[in-house]
Amino acid sequence: MRRSIGLLCLIVLAFVLWSSAAEKIVIGHRGAAGYLPEHTLESYAFAYALGADYIEPDLVMTKDGVLICLHDVYLEYTTNVEELFPDRRRPDGHWYAIDFTLEEIKRLSVHERCRRDGRPYFPNRFPVGKSRFEVPTFAEMIELIQGLNRSTGRDVGIYPELKKPSWHMQRGYDIAAALMDVLDRYGYRGPGAKIFIQCFEAETLVRLRDEFHTELPLIQLVSASPTYWRMWTREGLADIASYADGIGPNKSIIEKNPEYVAWAHALGLVVHPYTFRADSLPRKYGSLEEELETFFFTYDVDGVFTDFPDIAVRLLRRTEVVP
Ligand code: G3P
Ligand code: CA
Repeated sequence: MRRSIGLLCLIVLAFVLWSSAAEKIVIGHRGAAGYLPEHTLESYAFAYALGADYIEPDLVMTKDGVLICLHDVYLEYTTNVEELFPDRRRPDGHWYAIDFTLEEIKRLSVHERCRRDGRPYFPNRFPVGKSRFEVPTFAEMIELIQGLNRSTGRDVGIYPELKKPSWHMQRGYDIAAALMDVLDRYGYRGPGAKIFIQCFEAETLVRLRDEFHTELPLIQLVSASPTYWRMWTREGLADIASYADGIGPNKSIIEKNPEYVAWAHALGLVVHPYTFRADSLPRKYGSLEEELETFFFTYDVDGVFTDFPDIAVRLLRRTEVVP
């Protein structure tokens, strides 16, 4: 009798662990940026094939008002813009995406992220100057993911981030309105849609709810920079819960205060920290697996942004890529 009770407890425990792992999500950060240049269709497709649940495009606008997938409002860190358009640099030393039409941007070649002196940030990643990659539009990214969903039978989501909405607005571009327009065109509607919209600017998320009346899931990104200090508190999280469905905090905020996750959960917010990288590990961890295991199962986060989606997927034991 005692033995069968013990066995039953073990089965229940195994089920609880399995079901909590099954609900957690892996977000392909800038695609699978650990393996291919960030924000390219190749990187997104690879993240998809590695089993990510959601794929992340960062979004900025071109001169002719098209949403493109790019991390910075500048072009020089990840493309050969300096080579092709040497005279289009602004006095501050940057080449701005917003100064270029889509046709011009499509002539650029994307490479691994480099410093201004040309050295790659991550020297062991995809070699600079090899192969040819384009800057994709947001619409092209969605068509890729929706196409793969159709051909594989999976249901992978998208996790777009609006970059610097107020900066765009000051220059006459309503990037939030453009996002809503594209999403509506591609059928992302209602709270159950396979999407999270993320932004660092709270006013933009509030605007999406109140002005655009969107029911799509919204994620407030929380920086580790001191200007975000209120969002690190319980009171700040309560403010966020009034307009968003979750938070995307810098992972260091959770390391400093692991209770932060429970505070967010108590308010009904999901927690998706960023960014987990095998080649930029905090000193206290021996491997990315160890770091991810701590965040998933000790800190109990609901998902992670990672440049190495395969490692997180393996950890959650969801190994099937095409069912
Ligand atoms: O969006 C989550 C994370 O990507 C935020 O940081 O700078 O990589 O966009 P960043
Ligand atoms: Ca991002």
